[in-house]
Amino acid sequence: MIESSRTTWIGTSLAASRQPNPRMLAEVAAGLSAPQKELPPKYFYDHRGSELFEEITGLPEYYPTRTERALLRTWMPRLIPNLGTRSLVELGAGSAEKSRIILSAMRATGTAGVYLPIDVSASFLNETAIRLRHEYPGLTVEPVVADIADEFAPPPGIPHPALYAFLGGTIGNFYPPAAIRLLGRIRAAMRASDRFLMGVDLRKDTRRIEAAYNDSRGVTAEFNRNMLLVLNQELGSDFDPARFEHRAFYEPVNHRIEMHLVSSEDQEVRVPGMGLVHFERGESIRTEISCKHDRSSVTELFAAASLKLETWRPDPEVLFALAVGVKA
Ligand code: SAH
Ligand code: AVI
Repeated sequence: MIESSRTTWIGTSLAASRQPNPRMLAEVAAGLSAPQKELPPKYFYDHRGSELFEEITGLPEYYPTRTERALLRTWMPRLIPNLGTRSLVELGAGSAEKSRIILSAMRATGTAGVYLPIDVSASFLNETAIRLRHEYPGLTVEPVVADIADEFAPPPGIPHPALYAFLGGTIGNFYPPAAIRLLGRIRAAMRASDRFLMGVDLRKDTRRIEAAYNDSRGVTAEFNRNMLLVLNQELGSDFDPARFEHRAFYEPVNHRIEMHLVSSEDQEVRVPGMGLVHFERGESIRTEISCKHDRSSVTELFAAASLKLETWRPDPEVLFALAVGVKA
């Protein structure tokens, strides 16, 4: 497994060495000092957080994963042979469950292929890589533990054409300026024959979107609170997740879901290296935004990163779409 030098990682060795990750501490301290307290969503994803996300993807209310899977099953057997894709570079790969549709389409073209899944969730990514090596003998699997918000170096020596994939609607978890910077870095790594494949969750009836983030089994609530356990584990803070409530709502001006953890009482939390953080009853930490798109917002996002929208494939219910970009 390649461990990038720029990696912001969430592993187990930090706890073992009792050395808080300085970057994590700086990000948490800045976020918890802001007027609207905020934490970066990448901190959901320790091993448990990645498992909880997998559970979310199977919930009846959470339509994005199954919709994107159906789109990939329809379009990848056409796109991959057309492009002659030889490498798949995937950002935020997670379990790579849907990525297998792309890898199978690559295998069907007869090329051995290279797969570079990039993710912050180190142990989960490693498990994904081990499984894939078994399932796809002949495929070179090179997992990279890295924060995709950092500088993105083109993976050296991969065969082209390459497909850069960013699935699941994860682009929506980045504020637009950060999303544009990220797309710009992918664009800089691309050659003319390469393509960028992005899954996007679409704007739709608010109730449908809000239900996806307020599931009846409370898995999303547990996923949300898990971030506090990650902070306790990595920074030695003393958050009590039971004293924070899950809240997720649609914010129509910016077309996004916001997930918050709302303090159920006045309380103080100790964060070593930062000090005491005061919470008033009802005060919240924003833990995630999930921006929703349409064709024109994706066209604009791509254009801002000098990418051209080549193909736009929504599902029949127009819940989710696959967007294919090429260097403008
Ligand atoms: N692509 C998968 C997983 C989506 S969940 C799917 O479509 O189902 C989001 C994934 O992105 C998680 O695996 C998480 O660990 C990873 N992730 C989130 N923020 C990240 C960041 N800043 N850098 C790298 N990976 C990140
Ligand atoms: C990973 N990402 C696209 C998910 C989303 O829908 O924004 C994360 C998630 N948050 C709550 N449920 C799922």
